[in-house]
Amino acid sequence: MASYEDILENLSEGLIAVDMGGRVSIFNQSAEKMAGVSRSLVIGRELKDAFKRDERLVDMLTKTLKEGRLFAEYEEKLHRRLGGTTPVGITTSQVFDPDGNLTGAVALIKDLSGIKSLEAGSLHKERLAYIGTFAANLAHEIKNPLSGIRGAAQLLAKKVKDESLSDYMNVIMKEADRLNLILNDMLDFARPARLEKKPLNIHKVLDSVVLLLKDGLTPEALVKAYDPSIPDVDGDEGQLTQVFLNLVKNAKEALDKNGEIRISTRIITEFHLIGDGSATGKMVSIEVRDNGCGIKEEDLEQIFTPFFTTKPKGSGLGMAITLKIVKEHNGLLKIDSTPGEGTVVTVYLPIAERQETTCRV
Ligand SMILES: Nc1ncnc2c1ncn2[C@@H]1O[C@H](COP(=O)(O)OP(=O)(O)O)[C@@H](O)[C@H]1O
Ligand SMILES: [Mg+2]
Repeated sequence: MASYEDILENLSEGLIAVDMGGRVSIFNQSAEKMAGVSRSLVIGRELKDAFKRDERLVDMLTKTLKEGRLFAEYEEKLHRRLGGTTPVGITTSQVFDPDGNLTGAVALIKDLSGIKSLEAGSLHKERLAYIGTFAANLAHEIKNPLSGIRGAAQLLAKKVKDESLSDYMNVIMKEADRLNLILNDMLDFARPARLEKKPLNIHKVLDSVVLLLKDGLTPEALVKAYDPSIPDVDGDEGQLTQVFLNLVKNAKEALDKNGEIRISTRIITEFHLIGDGSATGKMVSIEVRDNGCGIKEEDLEQIFTPFFTTKPKGSGLGMAITLKIVKEHNGLLKIDSTPGEGTVVTVYLPIAERQETTCRV
């Protein structure tokens, strides 16, 4: 039969027990995980010293021990030793020996992070759907008057003889064009999926993107490392062009003088994704790597949020649109970035069942 120790040790809840002096006497494996600290650093120490930042936990256990107050599923955050917090539910009780003497107190700690992120996830989705419709309507409404303004400025520019005034007209037209680009991005983002998928040579897509964006880059700054043997992917040419336009454009904007963008492709024959069976089997991977400024850790989780931008003239829609299109292709997007070193974005796309380029006569 399992011993009490083994059972406590293997509980999925964290368990912290203190003796009558308020010193930690038990600290199981799950508690170690949630607090991010080894028991060797806490056992035998006074709770209030070992958990300086978790005042509520200390307070609750002390009140349980001294006053007999009990707490049930009390929602709190536990500080992890190396930064960050774990949302937890804390339940406390007193501990008695067989003779009925009080010997200490115990806290049972339930990890709520899974539940919390589920809640946050569904809220996030609803909000995104709302922003999407809102943005599309707004974009529509603004586009027409804007083209009116631009047209009128253009007419005026032709009629006005005064040079200094026509400069102003040009400003109006240039800014109207920029606004129009942002509105197009907004409409792209909100557009319902209407993909025309066919077997597609992804190198052709990448080449057209490079052609559009190579201005301002030296030939050495743009390296193509294609695997010529990769099969066609199953994709919508226009949409995928948009994906790589966004990614290469971001890479270009992140570079300084001696920067380099490297676009590589390869085939992944054994693609497995833990926890989500939607993407298994053969995939093509397309990697866009730059050695530019990189992305700060706190920004990384935001970059797919519509309108999040760190650029003075950015729309903040590029990554949101990119992720949306990749998902519509049953693909995956992975991003790795180190501030000061650069960014690697990898897109995985399913290969086409029917291969256009192979000849079967
Ligand atoms: N390759 C990259 N290098 C550095 N930062 C990047 C890169 N790609 C994306 N980002 C960050 O993500 C943000 C959002 O990107 P995006 O959605 O394309 O909007 P925008 O380019 O208009 O700012 C950028 O403002 C930037 O901070
Ligand atoms: Mg961008």
